[in-house]
Amino acid sequence: MDIAVLPLAPEQMKARVADESKLGFGRQFTDRMFLAEWSVDRGWHSARIKPYEPFVLDPAALVFHYSQEIFEGLKAYKWQDNRIALFRPEMNARRFNHSAARLCMPEVPEELFLDGIDRLVSLERDWIPTAPGTSLYIRPTMIAVEPVLGVKPSDHYYFYVIMSPVGAYYAAGFKPVSIMVEDRYVRAVPGGTGDAKTGGNYAASLKAGLEAKKKGYDQVLWLDGRERRYIEEVGAMNMFFAYGTHIVTAPLTGSILSGITRESVLRLALELGCTVEERMIDVEHLLQDMKSGAVTEAFGSGTAAVVTPVGRFCYKDECLTVGNGGVGTITQRLYDTLTGIQTGTIEDRFGWIRFVE
Ligand code: PLP
Ligand code: COI
Repeated sequence: MDIAVLPLAPEQMKARVADESKLGFGRQFTDRMFLAEWSVDRGWHSARIKPYEPFVLDPAALVFHYSQEIFEGLKAYKWQDNRIALFRPEMNARRFNHSAARLCMPEVPEELFLDGIDRLVSLERDWIPTAPGTSLYIRPTMIAVEPVLGVKPSDHYYFYVIMSPVGAYYAAGFKPVSIMVEDRYVRAVPGGTGDAKTGGNYAASLKAGLEAKKKGYDQVLWLDGRERRYIEEVGAMNMFFAYGTHIVTAPLTGSILSGITRESVLRLALELGCTVEERMIDVEHLLQDMKSGAVTEAFGSGTAAVVTPVGRFCYKDECLTVGNGGVGTITQRLYDTLTGIQTGTIEDRFGWIRFVE
């Protein structure tokens, strides 16, 4: 499909953040965005790159009432030789369509998803920050825009991509975070939407997140919705626990997100000489293993969060320090290897990088 490029007027160009160490996460957006539309009668059409600007949507648009919405998150990096790299964008395209199927939305052809991102990133290349730990965060999104109050799949959708120059997701940067295991609220249940990347999952998580913050924790770790016994994931990351060089993570049972960083970390851990295991993790057993010192490191993985060390782990008001509370050796090596591949300082032997022309 042709992608039209609409003109950008000088007054539509924004000032950049001068100090890249102050970027934060997702507060500033580039000059342009990508937009394509799907309607029952025409399928995908009107793909264009246009100035970044607000939408005018009918207040009855289905997305506002019944949350028919999905999104993705990936990053672009500018290498020292000025090449621009995307990390595993094909995986985002596939997961986007997995989410679309769950939310009864039309699939976006992989080629349209990837071409739209390539063209947009290419035009906005000057927005990619280069300071260590920074990147251009890409947010593909699909929303239901048909104005009707009946509960049904929309007959009109917007697929759009916006981009934001970002630093670390957590304000403290690459520092151990504290997490609280949530034993009252649940995020997802078997058969629900836990493995789809849809806004409703995040809306449903806000209350527990706020309550955890009030108690002084950075993040909530969700347990399974049926027994509230097995570790699932954190708000924006999958979780890993290291028993020496043996790395354990929860299996993809349908109620957690199939993280692209998770899959990459599992591969890299093997490369680094670790053994890996995907298994149900009983929170009580995990606590015992932390107390006995068998669990030596804990960390989360995600596009925004990259590899984030977990220093403190609290369950039913019992708080344990993981390892020595600092950044573990394996956590550090995984972070260094992953970010090295993403930024071009370590060879990509997996074919994970897609260059943007
Ligand atoms: N789990 C949740 C709930 C997330 O929002 C994310 C972030 O995308 C992840 C896990 C990690 O997924 P990925 O590594 O693909 O970014
Ligand atoms: C990502 O890591 O890309 C995410 O989507 C997490 C987000 C909720 C900030």
